[in-house]
Amino acid sequence: KILILDFGSQVTQLIARRVREAHVYCEIHPNDVSDAFVREFAPKAIILSGSHASTYEAEDLRAPQAVWDLGVPVLGICYGMQTMAAQLGGAVEGGKTREFGYAEVRAHGHTRLLEGIQDFATAEGHGMLKVWMSHGDKVTTLPPGFKLMASTPSCPIAGMADEARGYYAVQFHPEVTHTVQGRALLERFVLQIAGARPDWVMRDHVEAAVARIREQVGDEEVILGLSGGVDSSVAAALIHRAIGEQLTCVFVDHGLLRLNEGDMVMDMFAGKLHARVIRVDASELFLGELAGVSDPEAKRKIIGRLFVDVFKAEAAKLKAGSGGHKGASFLAQGTIYPDVIESGGAKTKKATTIKSHHNVGGLPEQLGLKLLEPLRDLFKDEVRELGVAVGLPPEMVYRHPFPGPGLGVRILGEVKKEYADLLRRADAIFIEELRNFRDEASGKSWYDLTSQAFTVFLPVKSVGVMGDGRTYDYVVALRAVQTSDFMTADWAELPYALLKKVSGRIINEVRGINRVTYDVSSKPPATIEWE
Ligand code: XMP
Repeated sequence: KILILDFGSQVTQLIARRVREAHVYCEIHPNDVSDAFVREFAPKAIILSGSHASTYEAEDLRAPQAVWDLGVPVLGICYGMQTMAAQLGGAVEGGKTREFGYAEVRAHGHTRLLEGIQDFATAEGHGMLKVWMSHGDKVTTLPPGFKLMASTPSCPIAGMADEARGYYAVQFHPEVTHTVQGRALLERFVLQIAGARPDWVMRDHVEAAVARIREQVGDEEVILGLSGGVDSSVAAALIHRAIGEQLTCVFVDHGLLRLNEGDMVMDMFAGKLHARVIRVDASELFLGELAGVSDPEAKRKIIGRLFVDVFKAEAAKLKAGSGGHKGASFLAQGTIYPDVIESGGAKTKKATTIKSHHNVGGLPEQLGLKLLEPLRDLFKDEVRELGVAVGLPPEMVYRHPFPGPGLGVRILGEVKKEYADLLRRADAIFIEELRNFRDEASGKSWYDLTSQAFTVFLPVKSVGVMGDGRTYDYVVALRAVQTSDFMTADWAELPYALLKKVSGRIINEVRGINRVTYDVSSKPPATIEWE
């Protein structure tokens, strides 16, 4: 296994991710762990992360001495390189200008780390790497025993190596995707140089996560807010695997879910996994409070507040305990790593408060509960993989995202039960056909080829004709987008045949809707949701 020592960089998790992608087990620990800890960990190799600090500012930001005494390969990244230089007898200087962004690095000498890894070669035959830099300080004198491995015009020592000891260091960030060969370089380090075996699979991660949850929870009890979304579902399945009956899921049905969603969630968790799930049918409460409200922000606030109220009331009951249950002391959340970064909490262990109201930020304190977040080190695709590994069906785990306020933001203006019922049926048809239609070239379904697709209810009526009669019914809009980060998005060029099928089915099967439109707006300037 690989030990990653974290000096406080925002991207330390990415190092772990790259190592995991090479199927090697790794753990991240703070840079100030004890020598005894490092020895006991018995790593195959150690990676020192970057940091916000400079070697001058932070005299205490050092790798434990054991790192250098163990005799295993060490890779220093950015600050990790600087501390390696400073600790082993080289010199580091504060840079007058901060170097940030794309750079081209020239490889020097023939090191095992970079041998054969390059993006292009110069006319003179030097191997060149396209990399991502972010640093102010730099190494100005190589420590004894080291040779130059890489350089840029503004950073003459951008990489160094002492191959006899297996020490390598780079000033750039191989863990970010902007460094084109970064993955190859980290793989080279952990597999070839450190000789780690690529035998780590998601199953092992499940076992490790289960062990950690058991250790953290002991014989106490846990409450989890289950929304049916990917993150809370995977968290629930994982925690249930770890502690079974000690977990109680609270599923608040606000009446703004997709068709049959509530039953599906219950069937999956209570039925198949035999988890303890309390379903709270709060649709009347939500629809009642939403009556007469048409402003999008006001609607969001009402839904968010009610959700917290309902959840809190259930959690308080569970905290008190009853019927053989002694009372919960933990609140579990499906916080994942991007949430942690977004909230700026990468180093602090604070709860996240992202856009979703399901992410009940602040609730643990109010309820006097401890926080359990078993997914906080994982990226979305890893969460999905883990979900499948703990037995959730792939269709559930690979679903498009669904916003916390649900259909509340997909019914424009005032929300009514009648509208929600029509929208649910129309949307189910759209999603079903997206799953049915396959793109010939890739063989993938259009559901998999789009990042998010849904139907929007427009509370306006238009005239139509059906059989011999005139109709005067509602309009829906279909929305399908392709995006990698949901910050920007393109509308999907769905095949006409698919649009035709969906429109025909909705108008024929959903009495009350007589017109279907397709949204051809990109984000920006439009957003993905209509409200
Ligand atoms: P927009 O509409 O801002 O949406 O382009 C970007 C992504 O965020 C989702 N979204 C939400 N998710 N609670 C959520 O959990 C919300 O209030 C919310 N609003 C938007 C949206 O579905 C899309 O994936």
